[in-house]
Amino acid sequence: MPASVMPTSRKADGSQPPAAVSTIGLRKSYGDKTVLDGIDLHIPAGSVFALLGPNGAGKTTAVKILSTLISADGGQAQVAGHDLATSPDGVRAAIGVTGQFSAVDGLITGEENMLLMADLHHLSRREGRRVTAELLERFDLVEAAKKPASAYSGGMKRRLDIAMTLVGSPRIIFLDEPTTGLDPRSRHNMWGIIRELVSDGVTVFLTTQYLEEADELADRIAVLNDGKIAAEGTAEELKRLIPGGHVRLRFSDPAAYQRAASALRGATRDDEALALQIPSDGSQRELRSLLDRLDSAGIEADELTVHTPDLDDVFFALTAGTGQPDQTKETAR
Ligand SMILES: Nc1ncnc2c1ncn2[C@@H]1O[C@H](COP(=O)(O)OP(=O)(O)OP(=O)(O)O)[C@@H](O)[C@H]1O
Ligand SMILES: [Mg+2]
Repeated sequence: MPASVMPTSRKADGSQPPAAVSTIGLRKSYGDKTVLDGIDLHIPAGSVFALLGPNGAGKTTAVKILSTLISADGGQAQVAGHDLATSPDGVRAAIGVTGQFSAVDGLITGEENMLLMADLHHLSRREGRRVTAELLERFDLVEAAKKPASAYSGGMKRRLDIAMTLVGSPRIIFLDEPTTGLDPRSRHNMWGIIRELVSDGVTVFLTTQYLEEADELADRIAVLNDGKIAAEGTAEELKRLIPGGHVRLRFSDPAAYQRAASALRGATRDDEALALQIPSDGSQRELRSLLDRLDSAGIEADELTVHTPDLDDVFFALTAGTGQPDQTKETAR
């Protein structure tokens, strides 16, 4: 199989590398439910792209279409320079996919899972053993290699999953929620692995529920909502889209809370938490003016926190009305 069909970095003349993935008007429906309603993507080779969206938004559907597991109902897509509709074999030869649900066979050992993948990629026995040993080492699975995969922890299974994806030396990999269910340490390890792949020139298309993950890893982020890309850009660009900055004042005394609420017109009330949210850019000038207003009304808050807009705010603003209570962003972090 071809080791590389894609140039992976900016060319010497400074021009942009060609797209690893590009789609125009991609559509998919199940029955009368439209899941993807015209998706346009342009993902440069060698970059990390994160597709965000609430549960059921169509992230897995997009990954399955782009990795040829299911077909689109409409639109065009090219992956690794191959047209999805006319050259699915070319696409398959260039990509690796780690699905949302593990492809690991628990009945056989980690090593056997890897060798099976090598077989599927038509590697010779010798080459298969070499690649397997190298990847087991790289993913810290040497000790566990001869144990049945059913005995692996979630994090080990996830690592094995990705190691299996890399057996065919794909130039583009699709990772559908690569860190869901991992503890913080394993998540950070996985981020390290993904960064390594990128430094080798691999293009990574990942889906995630974790905004922090997209912020950490992705060059570009798209938010999928209601079948459409609601916004696309760098983390910084997306954060600028919405005015999420505010100061939050929390009170333990209901009377003080009421007085503050009437003194600070324009504040958003959270009567249950006895908290007020005041739009603010978080600058010293705005904070001082707020504190002055509180002082002159003789009000003392028990807690003051400054909240600058982050991807959570973007996410909630863009996917509002999809069943996510707005307060979760305050408590989930
Ligand atoms: N084979 C199928 N038949 C019918 N409906 C489907 C099928 N696969 C997916 N869907 C529907 O398509 C929508 C998108 O599903 P998809 O799995 O792509 O969402 P997702 O963004 O990956 O969600 P999650 O975050 O939960 O993984 C959902 O409403 C789902 O029920
Ligand atoms: Mg999914």
